[in-house]
Amino acid sequence: MAELIVALDVQSREEAEQKIRLVGDAVSFYKIGLELFVAEGPDIVKAVTGLGKRVFLDLKYHDIPRTVERAVRSGGKLGVDLMTIHASGGNAMIRAAAEAAAEFGAAAPKILAVTVLTSMDEQDLKDIGVASRTPAEQVRAAAFLAVASGANGLVCSPKEVGALSASLKAGTLFVTPGVRPAGAAVGDQKRVATPADAVRDGATHLVVGRPILGASDPRAAALAILEEMREA
Ligand code: C5P
Repeated sequence: MAELIVALDVQSREEAEQKIRLVGDAVSFYKIGLELFVAEGPDIVKAVTGLGKRVFLDLKYHDIPRTVERAVRSGGKLGVDLMTIHASGGNAMIRAAAEAAAEFGAAAPKILAVTVLTSMDEQDLKDIGVASRTPAEQVRAAAFLAVASGANGLVCSPKEVGALSASLKAGTLFVTPGVRPAGAAVGDQKRVATPADAVRDGATHLVVGRPILGASDPRAAALAILEEMREA
């Protein structure tokens, strides 16, 4: 069964705790990204785990291997379950992240790689020197590199998850944002999928933000998404 992760895209600890209370027992997994982490620091992770929730720390590391290794260790000490790195950091950086995570044994955070930011198009890739591949080809190459270098999984768009899950080794995690229940507001997301489609395509974790946190009844919204995931 795929898991539902709620993106805590808010600016303060008070707001985060309020949202978690509103969602209640429906969800036990939350994503903390740059906005909230930079505002509140590591204490926000402790606050969320202190409420009995698991944390996906989405800081998308991209640095020299030694720095990434040490930053993964810091995340492991905070007790997070999932962390992100950029696959474009290369083999040695990804390997350093995976090895630092593995030091935590059974409590090791899982390392997810971002392949190509979904905000980038073919021209953006050319501008940074990737002239020989389309975005889809670059996503695929980066995904294989990341998994071969020890990443546990990938962050991928609903558009990519089907092809990647069919070709990467069993046990690879596929964490998919851009999920919208049928009929929900799309917002600024361009390529969306329903929860059922994402699960059928092989997503192991769905990341959903506004459709839950912006709902008049966040708990009911989360339960409806979970039901759709279960049916798939
Ligand atoms: O509110 P919404 O459901 O669109 O939130 C999705 C979350 O997933 C946000 O935290 C967003 O930054 C993140 N994300 C995304 N698309 C990506 C990567 C991450 O929407 N390609």
